[in-house]
Amino acid sequence: MRKWVPRLVLALAIGVALPFLPTFLTRSVGPAAGGAGGLGLSAGVSVGTFAALFFGGILTSLTPCVYPLIPITVSIFGARQAEHRGRSVALSATYVSGIAAMFSALGLFAALSGKAFGTFLSSPAVIVVLATFMVIFVPRAAASATRLEEVINTEPSITDPVNPIEPARVTGAVEFRGVTFGYPGGEKPVLHELAFKLNPGATTAIIGGTGSGKTTLLNLVPRFYDATGGAVLVNEVDVQAQKLDTLWQHIGLVPQQAYLFRGTIADNLRFGNENATEAELWHALEVAQAGDFVAAMPNKLEEQIDQGGTNLSGGQRQRLAIARALVRRPPLYLFDDCFSALDAGTDARLRAALKVEARDATVVIVAQRVSTILHADRIIVLDAGRIVGIGTHQVLMSTSEPYREIVASQLGEEAVA
Ligand SMILES: Nc1ncnc2c1ncn2[C@@H]1O[C@H](COP(=O)(O)OP(=O)(O)O)[C@@H](O)[C@H]1O
Ligand SMILES: [Mg+2]
Repeated sequence: MRKWVPRLVLALAIGVALPFLPTFLTRSVGPAAGGAGGLGLSAGVSVGTFAALFFGGILTSLTPCVYPLIPITVSIFGARQAEHRGRSVALSATYVSGIAAMFSALGLFAALSGKAFGTFLSSPAVIVVLATFMVIFVPRAAASATRLEEVINTEPSITDPVNPIEPARVTGAVEFRGVTFGYPGGEKPVLHELAFKLNPGATTAIIGGTGSGKTTLLNLVPRFYDATGGAVLVNEVDVQAQKLDTLWQHIGLVPQQAYLFRGTIADNLRFGNENATEAELWHALEVAQAGDFVAAMPNKLEEQIDQGGTNLSGGQRQRLAIARALVRRPPLYLFDDCFSALDAGTDARLRAALKVEARDATVVIVAQRVSTILHADRIIVLDAGRIVGIGTHQVLMSTSEPYREIVASQLGEEAVA
């Protein structure tokens, strides 16, 4: 069964059950309110009667609003499914259907009060209420409708090629051929003429200051953006010539900000490979150094994770995101600075386990800590979007001044001397 079915059923059940609530309540509080005129109040009533009159009256007069509430409820629940489209869409849907609901409620009120709709609308109380609603809701609904339209009409700029080329050999090899990139609307390029090859079975580390372009470089590989000059090749074929599905199937990307979905740990891990067995999930967790904390949870793999993983620590989220990439066993791994939330010991154990697990794959590790990359087969040093050093730690220590500076700043001058 699809996950949203129970929510939809619940939403409809509430919608159907609510109209009976006021009747039930007004009966149980005695002679209090009746009909839409339940707010009529005389002096000297006791607090209890007052409360009964007040709430009973409100509830009873709200009854006709309940049916218009159904589309709102459904749209909230429905929009929550479109989580990747963000919360703003859920809100937008709510505002827009709120306006629609308000008008249908007014129509029903008019019908109940026995007046013609026009006469009803022109009574002073209704005008005040309506004006208040208008002031609050209409600008929001208008803005929201615009936003909804934008999202719905967005044409993805990254699309499948007309005649896709299927890579002949899937090894995870990556090549940057004179790649230059600038963000849409940005003045200057962020990456300049990058040229390098990454071979299967080797680990390449990318190091450089904040804003030097490390994340941008990684994001060009799965085509989150397209290079503005030059070409990016995966499996020896230009990424722009491949089908996106094929390309993504071969890449395990762990972003800088680990993102977990609402659902169980198993759901999250199976995101990239829904057929993974429990044994495979546990194996991935072990490699990612997440086995112990998941095993310590009361429900283990079935433990619920909140939206965004807010009930876990940053390091735990990172390790689960790493495990998720491992479950897919792709030939190409891209780790974007996801080891920095781990303590040095966990970081070292994870990299050791990864070396075995991904021995045939192409592995790219973006890192801040020199100790994380010391033993990489190759290190690329980025500075302001340019490669200012490429080689092993030993080679870079004697050839790259920017690299020596990074090492000196972290490990102290004696490490450089
Ligand atoms: N979505 C974006 N739009 C415009 N500029 C961006 C965007 N993301 C990053 N940048 C800019 O690109 C440069 C490189 O950023 P980034 O690749 O995130 O660096 P790093 O990962 O090395 O810290 C920075 O100057 C940053 O401000
Ligand atoms: Mg980054």
